[in-house]
Parts: sequence; C-alpha cells; structure tokens
Amino acid sequence: MTHFLSILIRALKRGCRCVEVDCWDGPNGEPIVYHGHTLTSKILFKDVIASVANYAFKVSEYPVIISLENHCSIEQQKVMAKHLSSILGNSLLKFTLDGKVPSVLPSPEALRGKILIKGKKIGGVEKNLDGAQETITGEVSDEDEAAEIDKDSLPPEESHGEKKLKQSLCKELSDLVVYCKSVHFSGFEKSRETGKSYEMSSLSESKARKHIKEAGTEFVQHNSRQLTRVYPSGMRTDSSNYSPQDMWNVGCQIVALNFQTAGTEMDLNDGLFSQNNSCGYILKPEFLRQYASTFNPDRPQEFCNDHPQKLFIKIISGQQLPKLSKKEGSIVDPLVRVEIYGVPQDQSKQETRHIDNNGFNPVWNESLQFSIHTPELALVRFVVEDHDTTTRNDFIGQYTLPFTSMLQGYRHIRLLSKDGTSLAPSSLFVHIHIDLA
Ligand SMILES: *[C@@H]1O[C@H](CO)[C@@H](O)[C@H](O)[C@H]1NC(C)=O
Ligand SMILES: *[C@@H]1O[C@H](CO)[C@@H](O)[C@H](O)[C@H]1NC(C)=O
Repeated sequence: MTHFLSILIRALKRGCRCVEVDCWDGPNGEPIVYHGHTLTSKILFKDVIASVANYAFKVSEYPVIISLENHCSIEQQKVMAKHLSSILGNSLLKFTLDGKVPSVLPSPEALRGKILIKGKKIGGVEKNLDGAQETITGEVSDEDEAAEIDKDSLPPEESHGEKKLKQSLCKELSDLVVYCKSVHFSGFEKSRETGKSYEMSSLSESKARKHIKEAGTEFVQHNSRQLTRVYPSGMRTDSSNYSPQDMWNVGCQIVALNFQTAGTEMDLNDGLFSQNNSCGYILKPEFLRQYASTFNPDRPQEFCNDHPQKLFIKIISGQQLPKLSKKEGSIVDPLVRVEIYGVPQDQSKQETRHIDNNGFNPVWNESLQFSIHTPELALVRFVVEDHDTTTRNDFIGQYTLPFTSMLQGYRHIRLLSKDGTSLAPSSLFVHIHIDLA
C-alpha cells in the first residue's frame, strides 16, 4: 500500500473527519491524487475514495468530509463524479436532508454515516432542488488553496501579481457539493451580509492568525454561522504542524493538521477530541456558538468577569517509564512538565526537577500551580522527558486532556507514545485539586 493511503487510513481510524484530496488529470482518463508538496506519489483517485469508503466509519459513525482540490479537466471531473457516486453509494450525501435550502447546517447526529463532498459549486444548493438541467458546465473562480498559499508572507509585489483565473466545473461534480460549498473569504462583513450556512472558506494558518489578531470577536461570530477550515502553510514542506489551539479559541471547526507528523499539535488534537470518544466532533462552548457572541480570546476577562480557577497538580511519582532504545544501556533521568494550552492568557508551563537514573519508580513529590481563566478552552498536557545536560531533552511519553475533563483527587495518568499509542504500564501518579473561583 502506498504511503499516502496508509496515512489516510490511519487518520480516519484516529477519528479524523475531513480529508483533503488533491486531484489532477491522470493517464488513461483516470484522475490521480498527489500528496503534499511532492509530485512523486501518484495514486488513482478511485483508490483513495475506496479507502475512504472502507475506513470512514470504523471508529466513528459521524460524517466524513472529502475536501476536493480539483485541478482536473471537465472530462476527468466527470470520471471523479462517477467514481464518487459508484464507490460511495448510499453513504454519499447528494441532497439536503429535508429537500430544502438549509438555513442552518444539520447536526453530525443527523448526518451519521454520510460522506460529504466539499468543493466548488455552480450556484447555490437550490440548483440541486429544482432539477435544473440547463447548466452543463459552469465557471468558478480558481482560488484554489494551493495557489493561495501564504500570499501574506510573500513580498508585496508578488502578492499583487495574484491571478484570478476561471476554472470550468462540470455539473455532475458540482451537484455532489451540498452542505460544504467552498467560497473565497471576502471579509467578515461580506459574509455576515451574504454568507450562506452551506458556504465555507478555507484560510491558511497565517491568514487565520491575522484575523484572530485583528478581529477575534468577528471571527467567533462568523464561525457561529458558517464553517471555517484552516490549513497548514505551504511553506511547511516538512509537513510540520501549527498550533491548532489558536484556531479553536475562535471556534474554527476544521483545523487541518498533518496527521503523519507526531508532536505537540497532534497531542492537542487527540486530547481535545478524546472528550467525545474520539468521534471527531465536539460541541463548542456556548460562547463560541452565539451569533452575537462578544468573546475575544485575547480579552477573555471582558467576557467573564470571574476570577481565574486555580489548578494545583502534585506530581508524585512515575511507574515503569519506557526505556529509550536509542540510548542503549542508559537509564533515563526523568522530569515531568505540565503545559496548559488555551486562551493566550492561560498558556503556561511548569516542570519538576529531574531524577537521576530512575525510570522504574522515580518520585518527585512536587507541586505545580496554574491559573485558568477560560476553562472551556483549556487543555492540560503532561509530558515526561529524559533530562539531558548537553542536548535537548528526549521525549518519553505524554498525556493530554481537556481541563474540564480532569477529575480531582489521586489519579494515574497513563502515558502515550509520540504517535499516540499506549505505553502501558507506564504511568504518572498525581494529585489534582481545583479551586473554583
Ligand atoms: C459528541 O458528538 C456528538 C455528535 O456530534 C454531539 O451530539 C455531542 O454534543 C458531542 N459531545 C461533546 C461533549 O462535545
Ligand atoms: C513524598 O511524599 C510522601 C508523602 O508526603 C512521603 O511519604 C515521601 O517520603 C516523599 N518522598 C520523597 C522522595 O520526597
């Protein structure tokens, strides 16, 4: 099996509910999919769709979105539409659930077992409803995401040279887009006035960060009406990830990460979704769901005039920490760091001292203390590292969970490896106490 298919399958099995498929014309009339920034691994589109069909609902019955990056000719777009219909069968969502133009999106519950296509669309959803046959192909502006890569980070003269091309889209493929029509983001005001519930925009991480900084509250309001997808910068040729937390803080729904790249960002992703059995969907806190929300993650205190909650964590001991194979024969010198992610004000880290030469039953007995202003958005990450005086510490294990899922009292924290698998029986023994403000 190709690398891309195995990444895709692993992501679906980990609860990922939106996959990007970058399609190009291939030989023998068969569209192909390129992965990432290399043009080396080409896979048949139909094989990718078959994998989605086979693995979409293995761990979660909630809907999967196939995000199409379509660079194909009309002929091969027709082939794509044919494959989507024949391979996905009844799972493919082709019409709105109630046969009407939606004023709000249906819930994941209502869309159980469905696969949705996200892409460009000729006109609105009403076109699917009135059986209009007149349009054979249409033109949509070619603002594909690859072409939009970080215009912000290019020199000004290059970003001015941006070309607006028209791309032809065939009706068959257009009709398969129902609740996730890709539209260019033209500002919060525009979307407030004319945006539809089924229209969604994709923003590069740098654009998203810019909007968060300049218009956090408007972004929150926008995300209560429409979906936003954020994707990694095209500069990340090493498939590294950006911090999803900033995007979650303003209620962005689809925060795309490179699932194949282990690290803090994926730990946060797994940690956030763990509160709903890793089904891939969680309900946003109420202040991110209101049309007229005044929440701004940079000024959460203006929103809730409360005192912060105090989190006391005593790191007592560790049990059977794994050996690091690359340092054969050497025994780890473990330390524990607790990291808080959330609104900027809540982000902080504290760590214990390291214990020399004991991975079997180290005892720290150290108390750490944190202030949490916006508990609904806070994640707590426990990291165990092997202290190294000369180089960077080596990762031993971690566990991340939402602050609101933390139980007080004595707890065993079961550690996970870099790629999210269990390191049982390795664990930390801790005591947790929360002082409500
Ligand atoms: C878990 O997901 C289901 C389906 O989307 C949703 O109805 C429910 O509210 C979610 N629960 C939480 C705690 O987010
Ligand atoms: C850790 O704390 C416990 C309980 O207070 C105490 O019995 C134990 O001796 C302490 N261990 C170390 C190594 O400080």
